[in-house]
Amino acid sequence: MAKAGDRQDTAGGSGEEAGVAQEAAEAADGTAAADGQDRPIKQRKNGLYPMVSDELAASMKSGWADTERRGLEPIAQAPYAAARRAALSARFPGERIVVPAGNLRTRSNDTEYPFRASTEYVHLTGDQTQDAVLVLEPREAGGHDATAYLLPRSDRENGEFWLDGQGELWVGRRNSPAEGEQLLGLPCKDVRTVADVLREATGPVRVVRGHDGGIEAALTDKTTGERDGELKVFLSELRLVKDEFEIGELQQACDSTARGFEDVVRVLDRAQATSERYIEGTFFLRARVEGNDVGYGSICASGPHATTLHWVRNDGPVRAGELLLLDAGVETRSLYTADVTRTLPVDGRFSPLQKKIYDAVYDAQQAGIDAVKPGAAYRDFHEAAQRVLAERLVEWGLLEGPAERVLELALQRRWTLHGTGHMLGIDVHDCAQARTEAYVDCTLEPGMVLTVEPGLYFQADDLTVPEEYRGIGVRIEDDILVTESGNRNLSAGLPRRSDEVEEWMAGLTA
Ligand code: GLY
Ligand code: MN
Ligand code: MN
Repeated sequence: MAKAGDRQDTAGGSGEEAGVAQEAAEAADGTAAADGQDRPIKQRKNGLYPMVSDELAASMKSGWADTERRGLEPIAQAPYAAARRAALSARFPGERIVVPAGNLRTRSNDTEYPFRASTEYVHLTGDQTQDAVLVLEPREAGGHDATAYLLPRSDRENGEFWLDGQGELWVGRRNSPAEGEQLLGLPCKDVRTVADVLREATGPVRVVRGHDGGIEAALTDKTTGERDGELKVFLSELRLVKDEFEIGELQQACDSTARGFEDVVRVLDRAQATSERYIEGTFFLRARVEGNDVGYGSICASGPHATTLHWVRNDGPVRAGELLLLDAGVETRSLYTADVTRTLPVDGRFSPLQKKIYDAVYDAQQAGIDAVKPGAAYRDFHEAAQRVLAERLVEWGLLEGPAERVLELALQRRWTLHGTGHMLGIDVHDCAQARTEAYVDCTLEPGMVLTVEPGLYFQADDLTVPEEYRGIGVRIEDDILVTESGNRNLSAGLPRRSDEVEEWMAGLTA
């Protein structure tokens, strides 16, 4: 379908009409119609507008109903986002804080990648508007005033709403700033004014970098990489302990994910007739219907592909007798993601060797989960899981003991390969900018949510293991909430023990 900016050979017209078209194009471009607003409306650059007669231009300006919504209820996340902003305000008194949502990225010509607002902006507002910017303005009396600068409704006067490829007629209705204010529970203004506001601002400023080049450019000479880095670290650490809303969302993500895994088990016969892509597509359907998306590229790894840690090509065969390693997570509409792995026998029954390896990983995972509790060191669950795996590898004769020596030299890593888990939240690898002392060297606290995901991977070309081990990969991954008294497995809706997995699969395919 041709968009407004596409050349249309049928769009002839008189010279007068062509002049109107040019005027409309410039107006929608935002450069000619900037009216002092130097943050132009996003505009297609790749073609001519069709001719627009004066009559048509006049017609498109009027005759539209007032659809402004009033009396909207705030989103459920609004009070939680306010509390997060209060913590940010307390950390940086007297400083202006700027948190952009980010912009669309072009895929080609007038086609964009799906927009995903920055993690920091979503966490601090609950909003996902593209191009938006949250600003915390310091008050003289202390504290900050927060304003969300939002992309407003499309302008009908200058034709933007129907001539611009990002106009509402093309991409759908947006919330007006007044509607945003009711929904988010904080003052909202037109984002096209924010660059001027920031340029004119005096005093110290920090910006979350990496999301909006235009905003960063407006703040050149006002910020430093070091100070902005501190802001990013603080916001990453602010997400280490989840609030009640976030825990509810993560539970919902895990519940949807469990349903997605059930969907996959039900279509394993069709996957065998096609490829791993059938599994990816099946899970994706659940993610899109119940949530926003998958939280990361689904790993649908059958047979030897299971030994490739991030196998996302998903173009291989699915064969009876092999194991399917499925690592996938539904992301909720509020953008919280699950991260769950199950390793399933494609034909529903583990072979004795597959079961031996699976049960070792299960025991390691159970030891890891048992080590997740308030007051424990973050490293404890990793060490507990690795110890079990090292002992098994010694027992199987793959490594020379004792296990203490193996662990000291980390020799098990040839087959365990990766760390045993990570924090989880809006990002699948959440809180990644947190300082070592706040994350990997931290003490677990109630409200933290982390994955426990040990694995064993015997590469197909690994000559150091007996031939029958080669090409077998097993990972089991669950999402664990630290509670006051221990932990809660948010993904317990899916079975983990090998006999329970077989029983569950049989029940779904009977
Ligand atoms: N799905 C990536 C991971 O488990 O960390
Ligand atoms: Mn993970
Ligand atoms: Mn995973």
